[in-house]
Amino acid sequence: MSKDTYYVTTPIYYPSDKLHIGHAYTTVAADTIARYKKMQGFDTMFLTGSDEHGQKIERKAQEAGKEPREYVDQIVATFKELWEKLDIDYDYFIRTTEERHEKVVQKIFKKLYDQGDIYKGDYAGWYCTPCESFWAERQLDEENGEKVCPDCHRPVEWVEEESYFFKMGKYADRLLEHIKTHPEFIEPESRRNEMINFIENGLDDLSVSRTTFDWGVPVPVDEDHVIYVWIDALSNYITAIGYQTDQEKFERYWPADLHLVGKDILRFHTVIWPTILMALDLELPAQIFGHGWLLSETGKMSKSKGNVVDPVVLINDFGKDAIRYYLLREVAFGTDGKYSTEALIQRINSDLANDLGNLLNRTVSMVEQYFDSEIPEPGEKEAVDKELIDLAAETKKDIEAEMEELKYTTALEKIWNFVRRTNKYIDQTTPWILAREDKKRERLKTVLYNLLESLRITAVMLKPFLTEAPYKMGEQLGQLEAIKKADWEDSNWGALKTGVKVNNGDPMFPRIDLEEYFEKIEARKDKAETERQEEENELDLVDIKDRITFEEFMDADIRVAEILEAEKIEGSNKLLKLKVDIGLEERQLVAGIAKNFSAEEVVGRKILIVANLEPATIFGVKSEGMILAASDPEGNMVLSTVSSDIANGSQVK
Ligand code: MSP
Repeated sequence: MSKDTYYVTTPIYYPSDKLHIGHAYTTVAADTIARYKKMQGFDTMFLTGSDEHGQKIERKAQEAGKEPREYVDQIVATFKELWEKLDIDYDYFIRTTEERHEKVVQKIFKKLYDQGDIYKGDYAGWYCTPCESFWAERQLDEENGEKVCPDCHRPVEWVEEESYFFKMGKYADRLLEHIKTHPEFIEPESRRNEMINFIENGLDDLSVSRTTFDWGVPVPVDEDHVIYVWIDALSNYITAIGYQTDQEKFERYWPADLHLVGKDILRFHTVIWPTILMALDLELPAQIFGHGWLLSETGKMSKSKGNVVDPVVLINDFGKDAIRYYLLREVAFGTDGKYSTEALIQRINSDLANDLGNLLNRTVSMVEQYFDSEIPEPGEKEAVDKELIDLAAETKKDIEAEMEELKYTTALEKIWNFVRRTNKYIDQTTPWILAREDKKRERLKTVLYNLLESLRITAVMLKPFLTEAPYKMGEQLGQLEAIKKADWEDSNWGALKTGVKVNNGDPMFPRIDLEEYFEKIEARKDKAETERQEEENELDLVDIKDRITFEEFMDADIRVAEILEAEKIEGSNKLLKLKVDIGLEERQLVAGIAKNFSAEEVVGRKILIVANLEPATIFGVKSEGMILAASDPEGNMVLSTVSSDIANGSQVK
């Protein structure tokens, strides 16, 4: 492993549904370690993406009455929107439907086939479609007389089909040896032991192709088969960094330093993936970390239980930093934890608003009051200063140690320990009393310098975890540029720029009133229910309206318009705000199409609009015209369009 690069990955998520808070949990953790390593000067590669093939997705698309490609495109767009909302700074987003990926997956299959590691046979056994996982009879669980998947406890299906097999068993001994001699390879330790047991129970050869559906990468030597989705998916970790396409890049980043995965898919990553890599004669990743699950208050999150926590709602309500902080701080990485809105609000109020927010606010206000906002040079020192300065250095070292073990929770605890110590320093030094006497001026300078410097250091140390607060702090502390540029070593004491002005600003984290918030949620639910019912009532085909004359019709000015920009209107799940070009000018419109179309997919489309309609304000947004779209009683909707290209603004008669 080269020292100057750091390669971290998240699982690639199935675009079978929108992502929930559990997925955000893994991705925020990966983003944080990537930001931290970047700050430490590593050439960092952070990969995430989507796992788009397989029977599960094919079925989901069918259910939705869509082609798989169209279906996944729509969902992947929501992934990217979510990552943007959470400031996930990935270096690459891989989609397994990318041509480059598909071609290399075929090459991998072919190489293993040519060298005799893949052979043709027949598979007869059980298959869990939600997990895309093969199981032997002895591995299954039984619930209410039904055979179920030991991982997800959903019913398995009996499968009999011709299949290609990978000689996984051949590599079992080598794999065990590797796991045992590299204790850091599988973390946490409890899960490592589980995996060792699993392998010691015997590794069967693995079925690596399917014939009963089409949505996958074709087996290069046999068109009737598609490659097993987990082989396709796991390969993303090497295809994304140029395996077989950009050798230089591949060699720079491979082997990966860290695959972050949920505990449910640890087995795929610690058994299938390493044996494939061995067969390809590639090095193994340095570490695979299987983190715990974030459960909902009523257990595992699932659509059928209706307990799925939508991160987008939380981000809109509380801001991205509050969510990032909560995810990283609340549940020790590795163990299971429960999501709770009360706990989230509690964290916001006590840690973010009270401890950190107040410290900033008190400090900046004092500089404003006592030094006309100008940051003083330190003057007279006292013993209590040293304690604070020493704790800053200790905190930095502690975080370094915690982050090596992905202990986000304790790393943040250490930062807050320092924040609380700084608050205590105010009480100990009582600057408001010092300010009363002229001869204490030199001492007051030191106290405020130390407070500001502690805050600056806190902002630097928070940069991997939070993506807004460090800069809001930087702005208020008059150190914005320095915080932007700061790397990890800038969390050392003494770099505060003096002589510049602080800028007192709004509180970074407004306090949330728990009761009020829950009332708001209830009101929102009621509103959604009313909307749903209204929509249901609208389902019958509407009668043809009364006749109009030719002239009356000609009064309507219908034009060809091109959608230049689109975005969702906050607080509405139906409305998109559009900017359109109608040749003569650009217009802003509000269109009720958000349930059927994402903002991303409508940009660039040519549609028809009524251009001379009275302007209206919808959801507080001005709308100058109306787009034409057709919808059926089932709620399906298509946009009007033109059969081939024509100038924007052309009239429709
Ligand atoms: N597509 C596969 C991964 C292929 S990686 C080569 C997959 N996708 S998934 O979308 O079902 O799940 C992705 C990740 O989300 C898994 O690591 C899983 O553990 C994680 N989580 C799903 N629900 C979760 C929680 N409730 N909490 C935390 N993580 C959870 O599996």
